[in-house]
Amino acid sequence: MRAITVDNPGSGYRLAVRELARPTPGPGELLVKVAAAGLNHADLHQARGGYPPPPGAPDTLGMEVSGWISEVGAGVTNWKPGDEVCALVPGGGYAEYCIASELCTLPVPNGVSLIEAAALPEVHFTVWTNLMDSARLRTGETVLIHGGASGIGTAAIQLLAARGHKVFATAGTVEKCEACRKLGASRAINYRAEDFVDAVKNETGGRGVDVILDMVGGDYIQRNMSAAAVWGRIVNIAYQNGAAATVNFAPMLMKRLALMATTLRSRTNEEKGAIRDALLREVWPLIDAGRIKPVVDSTFPLSEAQGAHARMVKSAHIGKILLTI
Ligand SMILES: NC(=O)c1ccc[n+]([C@@H]2O[C@H](COP(=O)([O-])OP(=O)(O)OC[C@H]3O[C@@H](n4cnc5c(N)ncnc54)[C@H](OP(=O)(O)O)[C@@H]3O)[C@@H](O)[C@H]2O)c1
Repeated sequence: MRAITVDNPGSGYRLAVRELARPTPGPGELLVKVAAAGLNHADLHQARGGYPPPPGAPDTLGMEVSGWISEVGAGVTNWKPGDEVCALVPGGGYAEYCIASELCTLPVPNGVSLIEAAALPEVHFTVWTNLMDSARLRTGETVLIHGGASGIGTAAIQLLAARGHKVFATAGTVEKCEACRKLGASRAINYRAEDFVDAVKNETGGRGVDVILDMVGGDYIQRNMSAAAVWGRIVNIAYQNGAAATVNFAPMLMKRLALMATTLRSRTNEEKGAIRDALLREVWPLIDAGRIKPVVDSTFPLSEAQGAHARMVKSAHIGKILLTI
Protein backbone atom coordinates (compact mmCIF):
# COMPACT_ATOMS: atom_id res chain seq x y z
CA MET A 1 0.00 0.00 0.00
CA ARG A 2 1.03 3.64 -0.49
CA ALA A 3 1.91 5.47 2.73
CA ILE A 4 3.78 8.60 3.76
CA THR A 5 7.13 8.13 5.44
CA VAL A 6 9.46 10.72 6.95
CA ASP A 7 12.77 10.53 5.07
CA ASN A 8 14.88 12.53 7.50
CA PRO A 9 13.18 13.33 10.85
CA GLY A 10 14.31 16.77 12.02
CA SER A 11 13.62 20.42 11.27
CA GLY A 12 14.08 20.03 7.49
CA TYR A 13 12.08 16.79 7.24
CA ARG A 14 10.81 15.51 3.88
CA LEU A 15 7.62 13.49 3.47
CA ALA A 16 7.68 10.86 0.73
CA VAL A 17 5.19 8.33 -0.66
CA ARG A 18 6.53 4.79 -0.25
CA GLU A 19 5.20 1.24 -0.60
CA LEU A 20 4.67 -0.38 2.82
CA ALA A 21 3.13 -3.72 3.77
CA ARG A 22 -0.62 -3.57 4.38
CA PRO A 23 -1.27 -4.12 8.13
CA THR A 24 -3.41 -6.98 9.44
CA PRO A 25 -6.07 -6.34 12.11
CA GLY A 26 -5.60 -8.12 15.45
CA PRO A 27 -8.33 -8.95 17.97
CA GLY A 28 -10.68 -6.00 18.49
CA GLU A 29 -9.19 -4.13 15.52
CA LEU A 30 -10.46 -2.99 12.15
CA LEU A 31 -8.56 -2.55 8.88
CA VAL A 32 -9.81 0.72 7.38
CA LYS A 33 -9.38 1.52 3.67
CA VAL A 34 -8.61 5.17 4.19
CA ALA A 35 -10.57 7.84 2.29
CA ALA A 36 -9.03 10.81 4.14
CA ALA A 37 -6.71 11.54 7.06
CA GLY A 38 -6.74 14.62 9.29
CA LEU A 39 -3.59 16.66 9.96
CA ASN A 40 -2.57 17.40 13.53
CA HIS A 41 0.24 19.41 15.10
CA ALA A 42 1.47 16.17 16.66
CA ASP A 43 2.25 14.93 13.12
CA LEU A 44 4.54 17.93 12.61
CA HIS A 45 6.25 17.35 15.97
CA GLN A 46 6.70 13.67 15.14
CA ALA A 47 8.19 14.46 11.70
CA ARG A 48 10.61 16.88 13.38
CA GLY A 49 11.72 13.99 15.56
CA GLY A 50 10.32 15.32 18.83
CA TYR A 51 7.16 13.31 19.48
CA PRO A 52 7.61 9.53 19.12
CA PRO A 53 4.45 7.44 18.67
CA PRO A 54 3.28 5.52 21.77
CA PRO A 55 4.52 1.91 22.17
CA GLY A 56 2.86 -0.43 19.69
CA ALA A 57 1.72 2.35 17.33
CA PRO A 58 2.96 2.46 13.73
CA ASP A 59 5.91 4.76 12.99
CA THR A 60 4.05 6.42 10.12
CA LEU A 61 2.19 9.69 10.69
CA GLY A 62 -1.56 10.24 11.03
CA MET A 63 -3.80 10.15 14.11
CA GLU A 64 -7.30 10.18 12.55
CA VAL A 65 -8.92 8.75 9.44
CA SER A 66 -12.19 8.19 7.64
CA GLY A 67 -12.92 5.36 5.24
CA TRP A 68 -14.53 1.98 4.68
CA ILE A 69 -13.94 -1.08 6.85
CA SER A 70 -12.01 -3.57 4.75
CA GLU A 71 -11.50 -6.37 7.31
CA VAL A 72 -12.41 -6.99 10.95
CA GLY A 73 -10.19 -8.72 13.51
CA ALA A 74 -11.19 -11.53 15.86
CA GLY A 75 -13.98 -10.71 18.29
CA VAL A 76 -15.29 -7.64 16.47
CA THR A 77 -19.06 -7.79 16.39
CA ASN A 78 -20.24 -4.18 16.06
CA TRP A 79 -18.65 -3.43 12.66
CA LYS A 80 -18.53 -5.23 9.32
CA PRO A 81 -16.65 -4.83 6.04
CA GLY A 82 -18.06 -1.98 3.95
CA ASP A 83 -19.19 0.16 6.91
CA GLU A 84 -18.27 3.84 6.53
CA VAL A 85 -16.45 5.04 9.64
CA CYS A 86 -14.10 7.58 11.12
CA ALA A 87 -11.58 6.72 13.82
CA LEU A 88 -9.00 8.05 16.21
CA VAL A 89 -5.81 6.03 15.62
CA PRO A 90 -2.47 6.04 17.44
CA GLY A 91 -0.58 6.47 14.13
CA GLY A 92 -0.43 5.26 10.54
CA GLY A 93 -3.29 7.37 9.15
CA TYR A 94 -1.37 8.83 6.19
CA ALA A 95 -1.76 5.61 4.21
CA GLU A 96 -4.11 3.62 1.99
CA TYR A 97 -4.92 1.26 4.85
CA CYS A 98 -4.81 1.84 8.60
CA ILE A 99 -5.58 -0.15 11.75
CA ALA A 100 -8.17 1.26 14.17
CA SER A 101 -9.39 -0.09 17.51
CA GLU A 102 -13.09 -0.85 17.44
CA LEU A 103 -13.30 1.19 20.68
CA CYS A 104 -12.06 4.37 18.93
CA THR A 105 -14.27 4.09 15.84
CA LEU A 106 -17.48 5.98 15.09
CA PRO A 107 -19.99 5.94 12.23
CA VAL A 108 -19.95 8.75 9.66
CA PRO A 109 -22.75 11.08 10.82
CA ASN A 110 -25.73 11.95 8.60
CA GLY A 111 -25.08 14.80 6.19
CA VAL A 112 -21.28 14.49 6.49
CA SER A 113 -19.28 13.22 3.50
CA LEU A 114 -16.82 10.37 3.95
CA ILE A 115 -13.93 12.80 3.32
CA GLU A 116 -15.22 15.44 5.78
CA ALA A 117 -15.61 12.76 8.46
CA ALA A 118 -11.80 12.65 8.80
CA ALA A 119 -12.05 16.12 10.37
CA LEU A 120 -14.12 14.84 13.30
CA PRO A 121 -12.32 12.34 15.59
CA GLU A 122 -9.29 14.17 17.04
CA VAL A 123 -11.08 17.46 17.68
CA HIS A 124 -14.19 15.96 19.24
CA PHE A 125 -12.35 13.42 21.43
CA THR A 126 -10.07 16.24 22.65
CA VAL A 127 -12.74 18.87 23.19
CA TRP A 128 -15.13 16.53 24.97
CA THR A 129 -12.67 15.00 27.40
CA ASN A 130 -11.06 18.32 28.30
CA LEU A 131 -14.25 20.32 28.74
CA MET A 132 -16.40 17.60 30.26
CA ASP A 133 -14.09 15.07 32.01
CA SER A 134 -11.35 17.51 33.11
CA ALA A 135 -13.08 20.89 33.52
CA ARG A 136 -16.45 19.33 34.47
CA LEU A 137 -18.34 22.00 32.56
CA ARG A 138 -21.82 22.63 33.96
CA THR A 139 -24.98 23.88 32.27
CA GLY A 140 -25.00 27.64 31.72
CA GLU A 141 -21.30 28.20 32.40
CA THR A 142 -19.25 30.59 30.26
CA VAL A 143 -16.18 29.41 28.35
CA LEU A 144 -13.14 31.01 26.72
CA ILE A 145 -11.57 29.07 23.84
CA HIS A 146 -8.10 30.18 22.80
CA GLY A 147 -7.25 29.48 19.16
CA GLY A 148 -10.93 29.65 18.20
CA ALA A 149 -10.27 29.21 14.46
CA SER A 150 -8.11 26.09 14.93
CA GLY A 151 -9.42 22.61 14.26
CA ILE A 152 -9.97 22.21 18.00
CA GLY A 153 -11.44 25.70 18.39
CA THR A 154 -13.98 25.40 15.56
CA ALA A 155 -15.30 22.15 17.07
CA ALA A 156 -15.35 23.53 20.63
CA ILE A 157 -17.24 26.72 19.71
CA GLN A 158 -19.93 24.78 17.84
CA LEU A 159 -20.35 22.20 20.62
CA LEU A 160 -20.62 24.85 23.31
CA ALA A 161 -23.03 27.03 21.33
CA ALA A 162 -25.21 23.99 20.57
CA ARG A 163 -25.32 23.15 24.29
CA GLY A 164 -26.35 26.70 25.21
CA HIS A 165 -23.09 28.07 26.64
CA LYS A 166 -21.87 31.62 26.15
CA VAL A 167 -18.53 31.24 24.32
CA PHE A 168 -15.67 33.70 23.89
CA ALA A 169 -12.82 32.90 21.51
CA THR A 170 -9.43 34.34 20.66
CA ALA A 171 -7.86 34.36 17.20
CA GLY A 172 -5.12 36.26 15.42
CA THR A 173 -6.85 37.83 12.39
CA VAL A 174 -10.08 39.65 11.53
CA GLU A 175 -11.03 36.79 9.19
CA LYS A 176 -10.48 34.17 11.90
CA CYS A 177 -12.51 36.22 14.40
CA GLU A 178 -15.36 36.45 11.90
CA ALA A 179 -15.25 32.66 11.46
CA CYS A 180 -15.46 32.18 15.26
CA ARG A 181 -18.54 34.43 15.43
CA LYS A 182 -20.23 32.57 12.57
CA LEU A 183 -19.64 29.27 14.39
CA GLY A 184 -21.39 30.61 17.51
CA ALA A 185 -18.92 32.63 19.60
CA SER A 186 -20.74 35.55 21.19
CA ARG A 187 -17.49 37.55 21.16
CA ALA A 188 -14.30 36.87 19.18
CA ILE A 189 -11.20 38.63 20.48
CA ASN A 190 -8.39 39.46 18.06
CA TYR A 191 -5.49 38.88 20.45
CA ARG A 192 -3.17 40.91 18.25
CA ALA A 193 -5.39 44.01 18.62
CA GLU A 194 -6.83 43.71 22.15
CA ASP A 195 -6.15 42.17 25.53
CA PHE A 196 -8.28 39.05 26.05
CA VAL A 197 -8.38 39.53 29.84
CA ASP A 198 -9.91 43.02 29.48
CA ALA A 199 -12.31 41.83 26.79
CA VAL A 200 -13.55 38.87 28.86
CA LYS A 201 -13.91 41.01 31.99
CA ASN A 202 -15.90 43.64 30.04
CA GLU A 203 -18.18 41.00 28.56
CA THR A 204 -18.90 39.36 31.93
CA GLY A 205 -19.34 42.47 34.10
CA GLY A 206 -15.95 41.84 35.73
CA ARG A 207 -16.79 38.27 36.76
CA GLY A 208 -14.58 36.36 34.31
CA VAL A 209 -15.24 32.98 32.66
CA ASP A 210 -15.91 29.64 34.31
CA VAL A 211 -13.77 27.48 32.00
CA ILE A 212 -10.80 28.22 29.72
CA LEU A 213 -9.49 25.81 27.07
CA ASP A 214 -5.94 26.89 26.25
CA MET A 215 -3.48 25.72 23.58
CA VAL A 216 -1.14 28.72 23.92
CA GLY A 217 0.56 28.60 27.36
CA GLY A 218 3.54 30.93 27.95
CA ASP A 219 2.27 34.26 29.31
CA TYR A 220 -1.32 33.04 28.85
CA ILE A 221 -0.84 30.84 31.97
CA GLN A 222 -0.86 33.93 34.19
CA ARG A 223 -3.38 35.86 32.11
CA ASN A 224 -5.84 32.94 32.11
CA MET A 225 -5.88 33.14 35.92
CA SER A 226 -6.85 36.80 35.59
CA ALA A 227 -9.61 36.00 33.06
CA ALA A 228 -11.07 33.15 35.17
CA ALA A 229 -14.07 33.53 37.48
CA VAL A 230 -14.12 32.31 41.10
CA TRP A 231 -14.03 28.45 41.03
CA GLY A 232 -12.81 28.66 37.42
CA ARG A 233 -11.11 25.73 35.67
CA ILE A 234 -8.30 26.18 33.14
CA VAL A 235 -7.27 23.26 30.91
CA ASN A 236 -4.16 23.30 28.73
CA ILE A 237 -3.95 21.00 25.72
CA ALA A 238 -0.75 22.56 24.32
CA TYR A 239 1.89 25.17 25.11
CA GLN A 240 2.54 26.76 21.72
CA ASN A 241 4.03 29.86 23.37
CA GLY A 242 6.10 27.82 25.84
CA ALA A 243 5.60 25.30 28.64
CA ALA A 244 7.78 27.30 31.05
CA ALA A 245 6.59 30.49 32.74
CA THR A 246 7.16 32.54 35.89
CA VAL A 247 3.76 32.48 37.54
CA ASN A 248 2.21 34.22 40.54
CA PHE A 249 -0.11 31.53 41.92
CA ALA A 250 -1.94 33.84 44.34
CA PRO A 251 -5.03 34.08 42.08
CA MET A 252 -5.34 30.29 42.30
CA LEU A 253 -5.84 30.62 46.07
CA MET A 254 -7.95 33.75 46.00
CA LYS A 255 -10.29 32.53 43.26
CA ARG A 256 -10.20 28.81 44.13
CA LEU A 257 -9.04 27.97 40.59
CA ALA A 258 -8.04 24.62 39.10
CA LEU A 259 -5.27 24.34 36.51
CA MET A 260 -5.12 21.16 34.45
CA ALA A 261 -3.45 19.75 31.35
CA THR A 262 -3.96 16.55 29.38
CA THR A 263 -2.93 14.67 26.27
CA LEU A 264 -5.06 12.17 24.42
CA ARG A 265 -2.71 10.01 22.37
CA SER A 266 -1.05 8.11 25.21
CA ARG A 267 -4.33 7.04 26.84
CA THR A 268 -5.44 3.40 26.60
CA ASN A 269 -8.02 2.29 24.05
CA GLU A 270 -10.38 1.65 26.98
CA GLU A 271 -10.10 5.29 28.13
CA LYS A 272 -10.55 6.51 24.57
CA GLY A 273 -13.48 4.12 24.22
CA ALA A 274 -15.26 5.79 27.15
CA ILE A 275 -14.84 9.14 25.38
CA ARG A 276 -16.08 7.56 22.12
CA ASP A 277 -19.21 6.36 23.94
CA ALA A 278 -19.85 9.89 25.25
CA LEU A 279 -19.41 11.32 21.74
CA LEU A 280 -21.88 8.80 20.31
CA ARG A 281 -24.40 9.74 22.99
CA GLU A 282 -23.91 13.53 23.22
CA VAL A 283 -22.15 14.88 20.12
CA TRP A 284 -22.97 12.65 17.13
CA PRO A 285 -26.73 13.44 17.43
CA LEU A 286 -25.86 17.16 17.16
CA ILE A 287 -23.79 16.45 14.02
CA ASP A 288 -26.55 14.21 12.61
CA ALA A 289 -28.96 17.13 13.12
CA GLY A 290 -26.63 19.58 11.33
CA ARG A 291 -26.06 21.67 14.47
CA ILE A 292 -22.32 20.90 14.46
CA LYS A 293 -20.48 20.59 11.16
CA PRO A 294 -16.95 19.54 10.30
CA VAL A 295 -14.97 22.65 9.36
CA VAL A 296 -12.60 21.73 6.53
CA ASP A 297 -10.08 24.37 5.54
CA SER A 298 -8.49 22.46 2.66
CA THR A 299 -7.75 19.02 1.24
CA PHE A 300 -4.47 17.83 -0.30
CA PRO A 301 -3.81 14.53 -2.12
CA LEU A 302 -1.59 12.11 -0.17
CA SER A 303 1.32 12.84 -2.51
CA GLU A 304 1.18 16.52 -1.42
CA ALA A 305 1.43 15.84 2.32
CA GLN A 306 4.45 18.14 2.49
CA GLY A 307 2.35 21.04 1.15
CA ALA A 308 -0.37 20.23 3.67
CA HIS A 309 2.19 20.44 6.50
CA ALA A 310 3.45 23.76 5.12
CA ARG A 311 -0.10 25.15 5.24
CA MET A 312 -0.43 24.14 8.91
CA VAL A 313 2.91 25.78 9.77
CA LYS A 314 1.75 29.03 8.11
CA SER A 315 -1.33 29.02 10.39
CA ALA A 316 -3.57 30.74 7.84
CA HIS A 317 -6.04 27.86 7.97
CA ILE A 318 -9.47 27.87 9.60
CA GLY A 319 -10.60 24.41 10.78
CA LYS A 320 -9.02 21.18 9.60
CA ILE A 321 -6.54 20.33 6.85
CA LEU A 322 -7.12 16.88 5.31
CA LEU A 323 -5.20 14.46 3.09
CA THR A 324 -7.29 12.51 0.58
CA ILE A 325 -6.04 9.04 -0.28
N1 LIG B 1 -3.45 17.63 24.40
C1 LIG B 1 -4.11 16.99 23.47
O1 LIG B 1 -4.62 15.89 23.66
C2 LIG B 1 -4.27 17.64 22.11
C3 LIG B 1 -5.10 17.06 21.15
C4 LIG B 1 -5.25 17.71 19.93
C5 LIG B 1 -4.58 18.90 19.69
N2 LIG B 1 -3.76 19.39 20.65
C6 LIG B 1 -3.03 20.66 20.44
O2 LIG B 1 -3.98 21.68 20.33
C7 LIG B 1 -3.50 22.69 19.46
C8 LIG B 1 -4.54 22.94 18.41
O3 LIG B 1 -4.64 21.83 17.56
P1 LIG B 1 -5.28 22.00 16.13
O4 LIG B 1 -5.13 20.74 15.40
O5 LIG B 1 -6.62 22.58 16.27
O6 LIG B 1 -4.25 23.05 15.50
P2 LIG B 1 -4.41 24.24 14.48
O7 LIG B 1 -5.67 24.12 13.71
O8 LIG B 1 -3.16 24.35 13.69
O9 LIG B 1 -4.49 25.50 15.41
C9 LIG B 1 -3.48 26.10 16.13
C10 LIG B 1 -4.06 27.45 16.52
O10 LIG B 1 -3.32 28.06 17.54
C11 LIG B 1 -3.62 29.43 17.44
N3 LIG B 1 -2.73 30.28 18.22
C12 LIG B 1 -1.39 30.29 18.21
N4 LIG B 1 -0.97 31.26 19.08
C13 LIG B 1 -2.07 31.82 19.61
C14 LIG B 1 -2.31 32.86 20.57
N5 LIG B 1 -1.28 33.51 21.12
N6 LIG B 1 -3.58 33.16 20.91
C15 LIG B 1 -4.62 32.51 20.36
N7 LIG B 1 -4.46 31.52 19.44
C16 LIG B 1 -3.21 31.20 19.08
C17 LIG B 1 -3.51 29.68 15.95
O11 LIG B 1 -4.24 30.81 15.62
P3 LIG B 1 -3.55 32.14 15.08
O12 LIG B 1 -2.85 31.78 13.79
O13 LIG B 1 -4.70 33.03 14.90
O14 LIG B 1 -2.59 32.57 16.12
C18 LIG B 1 -4.16 28.41 15.37
O15 LIG B 1 -5.52 28.63 15.05
C19 LIG B 1 -2.18 22.19 18.89
O16 LIG B 1 -1.12 22.81 19.58
C20 LIG B 1 -2.23 20.70 19.15
O17 LIG B 1 -0.94 20.14 19.31
C21 LIG B 1 -3.59 18.80 21.84
